[in-house]
Amino acid sequence: MIKLLDFAKNFLKQADIKPDSVLADFTMGNGYDTLYLASLVPNGKVYAFDIQTDALINTKARLDKAGLKNVVLIKDSHENASRYIKEPITAGMFNLGYLPGSDKSVHTMHESTVKAVKEAINMLKKGGYLVICVYPGHDEGRLEGKLLLEMLSQYDKKDFCITHFHIINSPDASFIITIEKYNK
Ligand SMILES: C[S@@+](CC[C@H](N)C(=O)[O-])C[C@H]1O[C@@H](n2cnc3c(N)ncnc32)[C@H](O)[C@@H]1O
Repeated sequence: MIKLLDFAKNFLKQADIKPDSVLADFTMGNGYDTLYLASLVPNGKVYAFDIQTDALINTKARLDKAGLKNVVLIKDSHENASRYIKEPITAGMFNLGYLPGSDKSVHTMHESTVKAVKEAINMLKKGGYLVICVYPGHDEGRLEGKLLLEMLSQYDKKDFCITHFHIINSPDASFIITIEKYNK
């Protein structure tokens, strides 16, 4: 079966990510995605956000083990990302939902997620890419996905290519939204 997260990470490779690029992980969780992004920009920077202390602890441990020092760990909601990121980003990831192995009642919420995605699009460089992994198997995830699709379908096709990649014979399965900001 297709691994959607691998698909998402491969998708980001289309962005013109250079060793000194700036990237963002808007939901650091246990740090697997942050580690992946950090490994792409050894001379650059990754901004990583989460609202849970455990996420920062787990991610820091993972990065330390890999010897990576190019990540700014931020304990704040991703909707406030523009308070921290002052330069354009080349690529970014949202992996929505809850922290695996932790309290499932703490999860991303539609209002802040929609706001954060809009902010991330504004921060994106021309030619940049964002990827969002959505988990519609629970009520909030379903609403989050629906609102994101509605909001993103309004973006001008002259400036963006936005896709929805999902498994059509499993409606509750996780799905991916990709956003490319055209380089013009
Ligand atoms: C599915 S996990 C992310 C997995 C992670 N990328 C990894 O590689 O392990 C979702 C994360 O989003 C975090 N989260 C929830 N609301 C958030 C918010 N408003 N801003 C930033 N992170 C949030 C949760 O605490 C959780 O750790």
